[in-house]
Amino acid sequence: MVKSPLNYTGGKFRLLPQILPLFPQGIGTFVDLFCGGGDVGANVEAHTVIFNDINRSVISLLRMFATTDSLQLTREIERITRHYGLSDTFSEGYEAYGADSARGLADVNRAAFMALRADLNTMRRGTPRYRKMLYTAIVFAFNNQIRFNAAGDYNLPVGKRDFNANMRTKLDEFIRRLAVIDHRFSTRNFETFDFGMLGADDFVYADPPYLITCASYNENGGWTPAKETALYNVLDRLDADGIRFALSNVLENKGRRHEMLADWLADRQQYNVHHLNFAYSNSNYHTKGREEVCDEVLITNY
Ligand SMILES: C[S@@+](CC[C@H](N)C(=O)[O-])C[C@H]1O[C@@H](n2cnc3c(N)ncnc32)[C@H](O)[C@@H]1O
Repeated sequence: MVKSPLNYTGGKFRLLPQILPLFPQGIGTFVDLFCGGGDVGANVEAHTVIFNDINRSVISLLRMFATTDSLQLTREIERITRHYGLSDTFSEGYEAYGADSARGLADVNRAAFMALRADLNTMRRGTPRYRKMLYTAIVFAFNNQIRFNAAGDYNLPVGKRDFNANMRTKLDEFIRRLAVIDHRFSTRNFETFDFGMLGADDFVYADPPYLITCASYNENGGWTPAKETALYNVLDRLDADGIRFALSNVLENKGRRHEMLADWLADRQQYNVHHLNFAYSNSNYHTKGREEVCDEVLITNY
């Protein structure tokens, strides 16, 4: 399995060994309706994958991975790294910067990272140059995450790592995977996505922002009970049209129950709830108390 070079909050990579076997065989078109970093769509067996997300910056990065040669993109990132005087432990080692892996590189890179981020946020968005700068910023940012403020500015602080061997491998493997998948990108709000083109062999996977957790894409009113209801309606309509779907969510998180989801399911005996083993996705699970329990589920209509 390949891991997305975008470290997405709520990314499903660690749950893939449990989720993928629950998907049907012989999928024609696979719709990754809330694709985020693309970990699911990139690893599913299907004839065609549609990566959809309302976040245009995310889709434009995925598009860049799909259309740029891996070595060429690596060289571009190295060029930007040199231009801003950011660290390059891949070539120079940690010693060259008076740093070590445990302490990381935040102190070394802070000023240069802030300069890169400031330039990035003055650039016209969506251009090839912007995308390369944005991805370089992500490489050097806190936990390699992608987050924008309400004005659309990239606003993460500097991280501990740089463009190291691990990041290079992830980028290369993901680009190679996209090259062999028949895929399309789309930036539709899920409510206006054209499901009319789907048939009985096709499959919709929905991994929306979770109502009862608060990831960064939930900020700025991103996900609401009204959207949650709209999604249930979309899924019910797919079911009525004979199209298979799977929905990721949590029924309980840190002592809080997802009442809306439980109520929706109570009236729909035809849907199946698969409880995933969260311990596999979270190594600290056993040390945590009840208030930390997360009942991660996959809901299917088949
Ligand atoms: C939980 S994340 C998906 C993570 C993804 N499955 C992965 O493995 O990386 C939810 C995604 O839904 C997107 N999203 C939020 N509201 C949306 C909407 N109305 N329509 C489509 N996508 C939306 C967010 O931009 C975010 O990327």
